[in-house]
Amino acid sequence: MGSPSSGPAHLSNGGVSLLLTPDRWGLPALVHWGAALADDDVPGLLATDVAAVLNSSLDAPRSFPVVADRHHGWSGTPAVQWEVGGATGGPLHHIGTTTDATTARFELADGELALVTVDYRLDSAGVLHARASIENRSTDGELAVGALRLLLPLPARAREILDFTGKWTGERRPQRRLVGDGTWSRASRRGRPGHDSAFLVLAGTPGFAFRTGEIWACHLAWSGNQEQFVERLPEGAGVHSAVIGAGELLDLVEVRLAPGERYDSPEVLFAWSDQGIDGVTDRFHRSVRSRPEHPSPPRPLVLNTWEAVYFDHDLDRLTELAKRAADVGVERFVLDDGWFRGRRGDTAGLGDWFVDETVWPGGLRELSDRVHELGMQFGLWFEPEMVNPNSDLARAHPQWLLGELPDLGWRHQFALDLSQPEVVAYLLDRIDRIVTDCRVDFIKWDHNRDLHASLHSRTGASGVHEHTLALYRLLDELAARHPALEVESCASGGARADLGILAHTQRVWASDTNDPVERHMIQRWTATLLPPELVGSHVGPAEAHTTHRTAVLPFRLVTALFGHAGIEWDLLSCDPHELEALARWARLYRELRPLLHGGRTVRADDVDEGALLHGVVDPDRKHAVYAWVRTDTSATAHTPRVALPGLDPRRRYRVRIRPETGPASRHQVADPAWLTEAEQGVVLSGRVLTRDGVPLPLLNPGQAMLLELTAADD
Ligand code: GLA
Repeated sequence: MGSPSSGPAHLSNGGVSLLLTPDRWGLPALVHWGAALADDDVPGLLATDVAAVLNSSLDAPRSFPVVADRHHGWSGTPAVQWEVGGATGGPLHHIGTTTDATTARFELADGELALVTVDYRLDSAGVLHARASIENRSTDGELAVGALRLLLPLPARAREILDFTGKWTGERRPQRRLVGDGTWSRASRRGRPGHDSAFLVLAGTPGFAFRTGEIWACHLAWSGNQEQFVERLPEGAGVHSAVIGAGELLDLVEVRLAPGERYDSPEVLFAWSDQGIDGVTDRFHRSVRSRPEHPSPPRPLVLNTWEAVYFDHDLDRLTELAKRAADVGVERFVLDDGWFRGRRGDTAGLGDWFVDETVWPGGLRELSDRVHELGMQFGLWFEPEMVNPNSDLARAHPQWLLGELPDLGWRHQFALDLSQPEVVAYLLDRIDRIVTDCRVDFIKWDHNRDLHASLHSRTGASGVHEHTLALYRLLDELAARHPALEVESCASGGARADLGILAHTQRVWASDTNDPVERHMIQRWTATLLPPELVGSHVGPAEAHTTHRTAVLPFRLVTALFGHAGIEWDLLSCDPHELEALARWARLYRELRPLLHGGRTVRADDVDEGALLHGVVDPDRKHAVYAWVRTDTSATAHTPRVALPGLDPRRRYRVRIRPETGPASRHQVADPAWLTEAEQGVVLSGRVLTRDGVPLPLLNPGQAMLLELTAADD
């Protein structure tokens, strides 16, 4: 940790700077967050940091302190709200700063009552990790926490907002608007981020796109209730125009601290880039990959049984399926919902985590052993936080339920109250035993409803905050008992896909849809924050189960390649050509996964609305793979040159079409001539490829092809 300081704090790392200086109250105030500052920029910014005194306003210039609230003239969303003994918290005073080149800690206090701490860490990828805490310093009396938010300033040129919404099978739909006066606030009170999660809020220069524009982005690493927002007041925020921020959304009486207790906010991640959305993505991916808990490569190819058999579990059939899976190259076989007592459909059984003896008379170990003998890992579905009223557990322990009203079932299920230690002890014991007895290598951990219980429920449940922390602790305890166990966060698809849960799990299930048109969009935007190795993406059958759209196999294969790949398809219904195609694709996945899971994700801007060009370029820019995809027909009769982003302009590259995913049908008579040569391998300059671009074929809708580029100059 750094040394005490009473002057400005300048954090700089990875091409980004954060500058703060004491304001006229001595509070650390935000001067700059964005491009790395040169030494002589700092005095200039500090010298110009005092705002005008405005008409009909405060009699002194406004600043923007790290814990902005009304006590110091901030009329926007407060950074901190708390109350002791019926009185709201008073003004905070600065009591200490400790800082070094990349970290800073600011301590602020309200007399003897409360201590607020704000921590910043700027990592080598340029991502700023911000956290705050509040401690009850009083000797008597509870301190109730209303909110603890992390806010950073935005300049006037950040005029557009991009964030996300969505629905079941349609997660991560981008939405854009202009920054205006007022608050653009995205809240989740669902007990999970939700299918419509804001996910990542980006504010940027007008028209910012994948490859262009300056962007300030914010993500909350938290899996419970939350808010993320951009806010602009007519008087600004000190010399800044607006603010961007996030925090946990707390219920009125949810966090009450006894003397000496502390509330820690979730981490808020802030990323700045002047290289467009891809620049933000690159920072997040590098930051996420540098975490000690990041799952190690290679990410095994998965087969998940849900859409193959649903609840229809049968040892012989599943054994045949496992054999087929092993034949095509699957490395992890996951048995989905339906294996535990009473679970013949979705109306009963949740909570009874015992292998159903009527369906599995010999236990699950038989299947698990066969799967292991076939050289695959064995995975199993759980939904630990939930219970069906029609279960032995609910009948025996009605007081374990979170307390939703009885007519507020959702998929016929209710949530358990994880803040009760007996509930967690039961879950831990059951999961631990099944994992041990059945040699489970991987858990698909599901969460199929919003939480709607009130804090005044009949059980006195302590709310989403405690529930979320208890979930994290439960996952950590399982990891401690089973260090090699991996866990996927699923919530009816992608309703709990955040960096909070990913600190305790190894991947997310992005969506319940395997329809490649929908999937391509979901993965494209999920990848804005999460590197592809953390995002499960499976090949489904020709007719998607969720949309009933039919898609050709090459398109489905290309789509599933750009993630942690797998199969969600009854392989026993596949013909020999399909099995051969899957086996070819599995080999391709194994060959390309070091690149796909270690490279830089890039997306082209200048293609028509029905087309997508995206790829992954390795860090040395010697090897790249791009997908050229058409989801819809083109408005124009041809495809003009398309730039392949992210290559080294000084290199030369050998370009070839990878045939393994199968041919993509064309809406034209013949390909651009260069591409015909590319079948043998053609060498082109990086400058031409990445700056000027190359003409690409006009594909039919619902088609995709892969281009691989390898540096040809050494
Ligand atoms: C949820 C998941 C699916 C599947 C089912 C099983 O809907 O998102 O992938 O596991 O539950 O019931």
